[in-house]
Amino acid sequence: MTIKIAFIGFGGVGQALAELLYTRKEDLFRLYGLNTQVVAVSDVMKGSVYHPEGLDIPTLLQEVKQTGSVSSYPDQPGLVKGWDSMETIEQSNADMIVEVTFTDVETGQPAIDHCKRAFRNKKSVVTTNKGPVALAYHPLAELAKENDVYWGFEGTVMSGTPALRMPYTSLAGNEISEIKGILNGTTNFMLTEMEKGSTYQDALAKAQSLGYAEADPTSDVEGYDVRYKAAILANYVMGYPLPSNEITCKGITELTQADIKEASTSNKRWKLLARVKKEGDRVTASVQPELLDSDDPLASITGPTNAIVYDCDMAGEIMLTGAGAGLTETGYSLLIDIIDYHRTKAPLIVHEEDA
Ligand code: HSE
Repeated sequence: MTIKIAFIGFGGVGQALAELLYTRKEDLFRLYGLNTQVVAVSDVMKGSVYHPEGLDIPTLLQEVKQTGSVSSYPDQPGLVKGWDSMETIEQSNADMIVEVTFTDVETGQPAIDHCKRAFRNKKSVVTTNKGPVALAYHPLAELAKENDVYWGFEGTVMSGTPALRMPYTSLAGNEISEIKGILNGTTNFMLTEMEKGSTYQDALAKAQSLGYAEADPTSDVEGYDVRYKAAILANYVMGYPLPSNEITCKGITELTQADIKEASTSNKRWKLLARVKKEGDRVTASVQPELLDSDDPLASITGPTNAIVYDCDMAGEIMLTGAGAGLTETGYSLLIDIIDYHRTKAPLIVHEEDA
């Protein structure tokens, strides 16, 4: 079986996934019987290219690196250039849309519209964009179900660290009463740097130069990024339709170096924490800096690392720690979803060349 893939958006994360699909090709086939073929790339800045029988990944990556565009991909019979994202979703023969566009965090667009268009055209989607899941989980999940297609979004919380799949599979059956965690690498890195003596501005500049921060770091430092992740946890893991604007949210902008120093002299640490709690029939959530005792396991999480704790009635407290950002890690999160899709859906796909 071959899964035909179209990339909508082809920035660093998309390119990282393309590289993994190429370099791991033999292992993916040997271990899982998984074959993939990239048939299209469409990116508002880098142009678009489509071939129904597949594109050569090394050539694609080389063109993007050398020219900043995929429009220079060498011409050949059957090659189509210039399709926009919606044309690519509708008219390509892709089974799977990898939605990795630069999406506005406040509106979730254009990612939400891309998901809708894909589902209505019976195409599955994997995405790392938080907007569709945080803002429109239930209508999109319903649409995917109606059209019998797959929707994967593991990378929306803690990138390649399986923060969503773990409760869904390994912790299945537990009643989870609370999920708490450090879910933003930028701010955790900044707090660690400030503890070492950096100013807020220097710590932020360093987080930006290391690629942890969002394009506009307001979303990181004001806590909005974590608020979306908390909404995803409430909706997906706890199955409760909690709108992200009902989550109280305070970032780290008011924390001074003096606050951080004072905390460390009394053996404590400030952490930007998300809490998603079940209270009777309701689920509530908050995002705010909290002062933790230094022996709290979450206090020991420093630098850009993320951590999440699930309070389960049968399994007890389960903590998962790992990277929450990074190109390879986030590209890998999409690969986890593609392998999962292959395991659940691929038997239904028959291409002409397989028949
Ligand atoms: N800017 C985010 C962070 C990236 O720092 O965690 C991953 O969502």
